[in-house]
Amino acid sequence: MNFSSRLLQWYNENKRDLPWRNSSNPYNIWLSEIILQQTRIAQGIEYYYRFLEKHPDIYSLAAASEDEILLLWQGLGYYSRARNMHAAAKIIVMYNDGVFPNDYHELIKLPGVGPYTAAAISSIAFNIPEAAVDGNVIRVLARFFGIEDPVDDTKTIKQIRAIASELIDQRNPGMFNQALMDLGAMVCKPGKPSCEICPLANDCFARKNRLERRIPVKRPKSKQKDRFFHFFVLLVKKKDVKVFPVEKRKHNDIWKNLYQLPLVETSGMELTNEQLENINLFKGFDYTHYFKPTNTPIYRFTHLLTHQRIHAFFRIITLPDDFCHNFESEAEWVTFDEFLQRGKPVLISRFMEKAKDLLE
Ligand code: ADE
Repeated sequence: MNFSSRLLQWYNENKRDLPWRNSSNPYNIWLSEIILQQTRIAQGIEYYYRFLEKHPDIYSLAAASEDEILLLWQGLGYYSRARNMHAAAKIIVMYNDGVFPNDYHELIKLPGVGPYTAAAISSIAFNIPEAAVDGNVIRVLARFFGIEDPVDDTKTIKQIRAIASELIDQRNPGMFNQALMDLGAMVCKPGKPSCEICPLANDCFARKNRLERRIPVKRPKSKQKDRFFHFFVLLVKKKDVKVFPVEKRKHNDIWKNLYQLPLVETSGMELTNEQLENINLFKGFDYTHYFKPTNTPIYRFTHLLTHQRIHAFFRIITLPDDFCHNFESEAEWVTFDEFLQRGKPVLISRFMEKAKDLLE
């Protein structure tokens, strides 16, 4: 039996029961693929159902507000994926009557759709023989063919994509792609692969040469950047209701268009009085009159992103109850419950949970 037959036979007997595999609707397939770029299968399934329940088709997704989509996406991180997904839905509804393009070259023009996603949708939804090469597939093929160049190099990825295009089963391309992914996730695992149950083990270069642990080869990691974020809850009690200002992140940086608490970013842990002036939410307001950075209690969190380590410091400052009227500002005042309904970075959700009793 050749590579493809052995793989497909294994897939028929061992494939994972994933909800989008019962569908050939390109909307469902696309949704699952975008979500799965961002998370593992178990969590991906939860988000998949959550999105489908709210937005069962592309018209519904396109008509939603970006804030709602960001809230649904909350917790997955890398929010540009959610914004791109929303933008793609709008394009398909506006320019293609809501019909998903059934062509690789049209699909890849959509925001957030790269070679992997275009190939996955083409093959799974439309039975087009395009090789979908993700991290799992790269690992399987690098080991099987003994590719020892760094797999995070575009040149190596191109080489592996070319090999996958040669191998792909012309009659069952969607199955072939998903079979390679499942084999990578379930058998040819990153740490210690289960070669004893692998249908391809007999001809696998890494297996034969005892290089399973060495391949795939990765380039040395670049150092993570440290960033220091000082967030403020400027708490005002109006009658019995506590409110505080929030703002939308506008710059081209992480978390664009998510909501956050007023923030000062510094180059180190320390926050000085002068730096406080950088919170320009309230013109002419002297923060130092109300607190000293050094003796206000701090909630500290460290949050890891792909290339950044965020050191976050949260301070709660209670202000006089007529404060909101005395200073001109574009800030939006919200209650704790209202803030829960906004899309925000997980880091801020973690703080909100910790400080719930003080803010509610
Ligand atoms: N990872 C991303 N998409 C997948 C799919 N369709 N099957 C298995 N694993 C996947």
